[in-house]
Amino acid sequence: MNNSFDLNKILRPHILNLAPYSSARDEYTGHVGIFLDANENPYGSVTDENYNRYPDPHQMDIKRKLAPLKQINVERIFLGNGSDEPIDLLVRATCIPGKDKVIIMPPTYGMYEVSASIHDVKIEKVSLTTDYQIDVEAVLNAITPDTKIIWICSPNNPSGNVMQGKDIETILENFHGIVVVDEAYIDFTDSPSWLHHLDSYPNLVVLQTFSKSWGLAGLRIGMCFASKELVHILNKIKAPYNISQPSQKALLEGLDAATNMNEMVKEILKERTSLRTMLENLSLVNKVFPSDSNFLLVKFDDAKAIMDYLLQETIIVRDRSRVHLCEGCLRITVGTREENEALVACLVKYQQNIITV
Ligand SMILES: Cc1ncc(COP(=O)(O)O)c(C=O)c1O
Repeated sequence: MNNSFDLNKILRPHILNLAPYSSARDEYTGHVGIFLDANENPYGSVTDENYNRYPDPHQMDIKRKLAPLKQINVERIFLGNGSDEPIDLLVRATCIPGKDKVIIMPPTYGMYEVSASIHDVKIEKVSLTTDYQIDVEAVLNAITPDTKIIWICSPNNPSGNVMQGKDIETILENFHGIVVVDEAYIDFTDSPSWLHHLDSYPNLVVLQTFSKSWGLAGLRIGMCFASKELVHILNKIKAPYNISQPSQKALLEGLDAATNMNEMVKEILKERTSLRTMLENLSLVNKVFPSDSNFLLVKFDDAKAIMDYLLQETIIVRDRSRVHLCEGCLRITVGTREENEALVACLVKYQQNIITV
């Protein structure tokens, strides 16, 4: 429980008092009527399908379907243009440029640093431990009165592992600012989500996304779960129609097909195990790190040469070999059975070439 948290002290003062843009569809939310309020084209669209009307700015149909699925109140849900949008909005809402600070724990997802840099917000980097866990003492020591956000990625990108619950709890309890737990990969682990701790911790924000397990990266929709007061603030500062009508429509269909998501996740987890086994059998692989995600972090003797070779073979993986604590590593997304076998066949060919040379 964190009783000392006061959102009003964390928000930038001018954001607290900001009068948001009131969109035409904020004033009338019915679906039928003669709409002469938003300067739309009354004849339809140039395309066969009509997109001439602005979409629901608050995506209420989606939130009403999502709320029971996540067992959370509609008022605690913010939807963004990918979870990258709430990452940016949280910095904008809380951090005074040139003054305030966020804490990140490398190696981790790059957008926390990029978003802070865009807004000229200071970044305090507290390295994860060598086994990719939170160095709680170092994090607590790095907190200053100007620290507004601590970013925790769990399961972490690029290391793939879940952070220990007790460490997250210690930070939640001892920090006066916002603790974001980014759960982009949560559906690939048995570890529980932090979603159901929102009542205990008013300073907790949980991010999830439709881009990974749901297979909807192209729609660009991310979820942000937080106190209803913070969700209200994010809604005030977002672009008025941040999620397009086709995306909203496709997601509404997607939410009805949650069982497909479960099936795909099962398949990906099976493939993760078999890809791990295949990689561990290769002599050029030094280590395959444990993964609670849909990717594997793999340490090679010569990551750069392998990356170049795979590129020549038009297999694209992510080079993390120059990232702190990931030296010599490539991050490999778990593909289909055929894709994984093609990757491993390429690596076997590379291995044989080295031996023959
Ligand atoms: C940890 C993490 N958070 C957030 C994102 C962004 O996801 P979205 O597609 O929802 O913007 C990613 C994307 O790779 C990620 O790895």
